[in-house]
Amino acid sequence: MAHKLNSMAMILFLLLASTAKAEPGVFDVTTATYGAKPGPDITQALAKAWNDACASPSASIVVVPSGTYKLREASFKGPCKAPIEIQVQGILQAPTDGSKLTKKDTWVGFEHINMLSLSGGGTFDGQGALSWSKNDCNKNKNCKSNAINLRFNFITNSTVQDITSLNSKNFHMNVFGCKNVTFQHVNITAPGESVNTDGIHIGRSTAINITDANIGTGDDCVSIGHGSKEITVTKVTCGPGHGISIGSLGKYLNEEPVVGIRVNNCTLRNTQNGVRIKTWPASPSASTASDIHFEDIIMINVGNPVLIDQNYCPWNQCKKNVPSRVKISNVSFMNIKGSSATPLAVKIVCSSCIPCENVELADIDLTYSGKKGPLTSRCSNVKPTITRVTKALACATTAGLKK
Ligand SMILES: *[C@@H]1O[C@H](CO)[C@@H](O)[C@H](O)[C@H]1NC(C)=O
Ligand SMILES: *[C@@H]1O[C@H](CO)[C@@H](O)[C@H](O)[C@H]1NC(C)=O
Ligand SMILES: *[C@@H]1O[C@H](CO)[C@@H](O)[C@H](O)[C@H]1NC(C)=O
Ligand SMILES: *[C@@H]1O[C@H](CO)[C@@H](O)[C@H](O)[C@H]1NC(C)=O
Ligand SMILES: *[C@@H]1O[C@H](CO)[C@@H](O)[C@H](O)[C@H]1NC(C)=O
Ligand SMILES: *[C@@H]1O[C@H](CO)[C@@H](O)[C@H](O)[C@H]1NC(C)=O
Repeated sequence: MAHKLNSMAMILFLLLASTAKAEPGVFDVTTATYGAKPGPDITQALAKAWNDACASPSASIVVVPSGTYKLREASFKGPCKAPIEIQVQGILQAPTDGSKLTKKDTWVGFEHINMLSLSGGGTFDGQGALSWSKNDCNKNKNCKSNAINLRFNFITNSTVQDITSLNSKNFHMNVFGCKNVTFQHVNITAPGESVNTDGIHIGRSTAINITDANIGTGDDCVSIGHGSKEITVTKVTCGPGHGISIGSLGKYLNEEPVVGIRVNNCTLRNTQNGVRIKTWPASPSASTASDIHFEDIIMINVGNPVLIDQNYCPWNQCKKNVPSRVKISNVSFMNIKGSSATPLAVKIVCSSCIPCENVELADIDLTYSGKKGPLTSRCSNVKPTITRVTKALACATTAGLKK
């Protein structure tokens, strides 16, 4: 009898043990073990807490409690033994002088981590003003590039949520070689005149979602480079900045295809461009961009709201008379409404050697109230399908392909 009871108890215990969820281990940088406190630099403390958490065989959380801390650099490297969370509740400040960083191109880096969650409501303040004032990349091809606030390299099955990236010296977030990562409730802020401060740049990544984000910077809000697949951008508010951009593409040799991009339910306010695809002329090799859809977009005082530009050549860095070799196909612009800041509100200028194929314009309703002429549109080397678009916006002037 006693034996029987014992085994019953044992079974009950095993059942409980298997259903009770283990609490994740907490690695708080301000505990005595790590010794961080608001004010001084916490680079060492954070690195130690990360190493312990990453080596932990069960789920763990690294916590930076509220307060303002200096951080010279952080390099969060995996693989880790179990899912890992970083909760930044406080404000982390980068050195104002970029040359004080250990790595010139990265302030906070994440690498080779599966099941990462970055959250906490805190702020990564890149303190970029000094770097912007020294940036000459618009004149100097070999300029030194500044540090990116947050770099995600080879991150999988992860989320980044409820954080703010402020005044990065360069791009705010760079996503490279990642798969299945969601960015949500993220705020990204830098002045409209800051140089090269793109919000989120994605390249060579698959299944990346950006949702419920607020991005105002001096450059692209979201930019999607070559090798990007299954990217969704929804409920993102952009401005100031240069708008949401696919590209630039076709500048380098052997670029990988861009395929499966959905941008929907976004609002752009006071941006230089709206939604665009940009490719360089004189591409060194052929590549493709297809299955790209922009839908349910509100434009408020936006320059070039609907734009495909296969002659993208800022500061005349290229041979403009040699056409782009990026083939653009299966693209739609649907339900795009609001106000344009330029009379040319729809511009679809495709490559003269590889015209765009299967482009659709539907329900485009834009107004222009400035004094630079009447609302108009231009299309070349493309024959779009046009539905419910007023005459002025429906390829009013065309070139290249015969209508
Ligand atoms: C994506 O990652 C989440 C964890 O963040 C995971 O639950 C989900 O199964 C992953 N999806 C795929 C298709 O891998
Ligand atoms: C990501 O999650 C999916 C689905 O759970 C899994 O198949 C895949 O192996 C995970 N990726 C990595 C790198 O562990
Ligand atoms: C982002 O900004 C909005 C509006 O200013 C604010 O309500 C929200 O709490 C911010 N989110 C984060 C993660 O700081
Ligand atoms: C991303 O969003 C799309 C469309 O809303 C959805 O189908 C997909 O499952 C999402 N992926 C992730 C990784 O959350
Ligand atoms: C945009 O949001 C509305 C309202 O939530 C929804 O009905 C619509 O399907 C969304 N658009 C797209 C393209 O997902
Ligand atoms: C474009 O769409 C058509 C029709 O849906 C499809 O057959 C074709 O494979 C697509 N092309 C590309 C490059 O995705």
